[in-house]
Amino acid sequence: MKNELTNDILKVLYTEEQIRERVKELGAAIAEKFAGQRPLFVGILKGSVLFLADLIRACPLRADLEMMAVSSYGNAAVSSGRVRITYDIPTDVRDRDLIIVEDILDSGNTLSFLKEYLNAKGAASVTIVTLLDKPSGRQKAVTADYVGFPVPDAFVVGYGLDYAQLYRNLPCIGILKPEVYEKPDGD
Ligand code: PRP
Repeated sequence: MKNELTNDILKVLYTEEQIRERVKELGAAIAEKFAGQRPLFVGILKGSVLFLADLIRACPLRADLEMMAVSSYGNAAVSSGRVRITYDIPTDVRDRDLIIVEDILDSGNTLSFLKEYLNAKGAASVTIVTLLDKPSGRQKAVTADYVGFPVPDAFVVGYGLDYAQLYRNLPCIGILKPEVYEKPDGD
């Protein structure tokens, strides 16, 4: 069905149904790994919110939930490389088993920074879960422990991922039409 959002999508990479199935699998794998423990999920705002909400419901564990917000892109299509924390976890992470939940691992700047930062704060372990992995974008050597899907070298949006703050509410994941981000005024 075409609408204001889907009109801007060149190609759907993963449907709502495919995402639902994969998130269930990831939830089950994480629940198995952390069985009997009390990990702390750390959702990274804002891109991870849809994935996080579905993942934790697929993960029947006694677990805590906190959020962090970081930024390295602003409204640009390419990472600036500088990661800023705009909202930090208010609770003590010392000796906790942390599960970082991200929407996409691209250059690796964000996750390598976060892993180092949370380890330095005394976390017992830091596990990385990312819905999407774009290996072609990698600048920092960082690997995720759990990956939902690989994505090609293209601008992907939907299911939490934005372009200029739009398309996060698209239920599927798709490639954005280049003419959308090549417009000089961005609208
Ligand atoms: C996006 C995404 C990841 C990061 C991944 O965040 O949510 O946090 O970029 O890219 P990297 O591997 O190149 O660092 P963004 O700064 O766009 O913020 P958002 O989640 O609020 O959209």
